This record gives sequence, structure tokens and C-alpha cells, in this order.
Amino acid sequence: MSGGERTNPSTEPIVPIVPVAPVAAQEPAAPAEPVIRVRGLTNRFGSHEVHRDLDLDLYRGEVLGVVGGSGTGKSVLLRSIIGLIRPAAGTIEVLGQDLARLPEAERQAIERRFGVLFQDGALFSAMTVAENVAVPLREQFRLPPALMQEIVALKIALAGLEPEAAAKYPSELSGGMRKRAGLARALALDPEILFLDEPTAGLDPISAAAFDELIVKLQSALGLTVFMVTHDLDSLATICDRIAVLAEGRVLASGTLDELRQLTHPWIRAYFHGPRARAALAGKPAADAAATGL
Ligand SMILES: Nc1ncnc2c1ncn2[C@@H]1O[C@H](COP(=O)(O)OP(=O)(O)O)[C@@H](O)[C@H]1O
Ligand SMILES: [Mg+2]
Repeated sequence: MSGGERTNPSTEPIVPIVPVAPVAAQEPAAPAEPVIRVRGLTNRFGSHEVHRDLDLDLYRGEVLGVVGGSGTGKSVLLRSIIGLIRPAAGTIEVLGQDLARLPEAERQAIERRFGVLFQDGALFSAMTVAENVAVPLREQFRLPPALMQEIVALKIALAGLEPEAAAKYPSELSGGMRKRAGLARALALDPEILFLDEPTAGLDPISAAAFDELIVKLQSALGLTVFMVTHDLDSLATICDRIAVLAEGRVLASGTLDELRQLTHPWIRAYFHGPRARAALAGKPAADAAATGL
């Protein structure tokens, strides 16, 4: 299966992964709109080619899981899409615009419409959680302090943190709380697209499951589209509508978990049929997997 031209995903906010049915998968009523369209992406660092002719679509309202071995270029892909890395070749459209070709002001206007939680959380260690969450708001708006505080408190609550977390420094938080603080900051500007780079890596299984649950809730409550790099098979099984597999410098395949499990490519087979996959998928349907996977 090629990654580029698969059928459109469902537009349902949450699509539980169902056991394989004998009938064909349901087609959505209307074609889904791609909010990100990557074509022919090539990235190189010196002589090291990370991506070659990579195609990827992200459709409005879906949660896309991006998987691949370590060093296959998942983070580089994310950073290219958000404009932090200038590709050697190819086009990347975000919300219908090629960021690389836009004048600065218009590029910033698009950038306001997505939020990013980087792999390491990337909080400013000398700032409290509230100050961290306020950073994107200060960059974009001049708000009266009381209103700023109110918005920050709202985002902190949205990310599932207690109000007391606002005054804490990142070093005073658990790993799970730091991820939530990073998420609160990513949500500061009410984004349409949320980028998450391995959000549950390093979390204990209970915190990871709680984080997944939070993402699903936010996705449906706020109508988010989510691009999530992950190694976490539980996350893939519970919250992703579709999965893109990065290997050999491109998106080797994309589809639902059940579709990918049919493929014979050695890495894909090993990944989706290995012991960890069996454990993560044992509790299907999704809700059970989260409850029993601990
Ligand atoms: N800024 C950089 N300079 C040079 N090489 C880089 C840079 N960023 C990433 N790479 C290399 O690109 C490859 C893909 O990295 P990355 O996207 O971080 O992998 P992962 O899939 O684990 O997220 C790795 O070999 C990494 O060493
Ligand atoms: Mg990475």
C-alpha cells in the first residue's frame, strides 16, 4: 500500500478501532479536507538524506499517529511541517498555504493556528507554568493582565492541571504534569492543529493513558486535528484514527491499525505483530485497552 493516495478517513471526531468486520470500511459522506499536504519532501543534513520524496496528508478532525524506528525522521518531519526546517525539496501546505512562500506576516497568521508540544516538553525552566503558557499570548496580543491571567488559568485547567500548578516551576512538576503544562502552552492560541512529538514517552502507564484520554477529549471538544509522533502502541490503538509509517525516508504506508496489520513489510510486521503490539491490542476495543493495559 502506498502512503500517498489512501482513502479519506472518517470525519467522526473519535473513531474507535473496531474488530475487523467482514464488510468494507465505511466511506465518509463527504471527502475530508486535508489541512496538511506534504508532497515530494526531501530533507538532508550534509550527505545524510533523512527524507526522500515523502508524501503525507493530514485530514481535518483526525488524529494521525506517525510511527517509525528511532532516527527515521519523525521529529524532522514535524519540524519541517511547522517551518523550523527548510526542506531540500518538496512542498508543504498547511491550511492551504505553503509557509515557505508566504510573507512573514501571513506566515505568522497561519502559525497562530497550530500548537506544538515538542518531544522534551521544551518549557522555559526559569518560568512558572503560568508564565510559560502566557508566552505565546504575549507574542501575539497585548492583553490586560487580568484577562491574560484568566486565559492562562483556563488553558491550565483545559490541560487537566490543578490551579496550584500555575505557580510552579517545571522542575517542581512530575513528567506527566510537565507534558500537560506543555500542552496548555500549545493550546494557548486556540489552535486548529495540534502537533505532539512523543507526548507519552517517559510517562508511567497510568499517566500515559490519562494523557491519551485528555487528547481524545480535547480533540472532540475543540474540534482539533492532531499530528502525533508516537512509539506508544497503546496510544495508537486507543486514540489514532489513522497511522502513517515512516521508513526508508518516506511514508511507507498509512491506514487504520487494522489495515496496517495486514501488510507484509518486515518492519511494519515486526512492529504491529510483536509482543508489545499484542499486549497493546489485547484489550480491543479501545476503551478496554486503556483500562486493562495497566
Ligand atoms: N539539526 C540536525 N542536524 C543534523 N542531523 C539531524 C538534525 N536533526 C535531526 N538530524 C538527524 O536526522 C535523523 C532523523 O532525526 P529525527 O527526526 O530526530 O528522528 P526521530 O524519528 O527519532 O524523531 C537522525 O539521523 C538525526 O541524527
Ligand atoms: Mg523524535
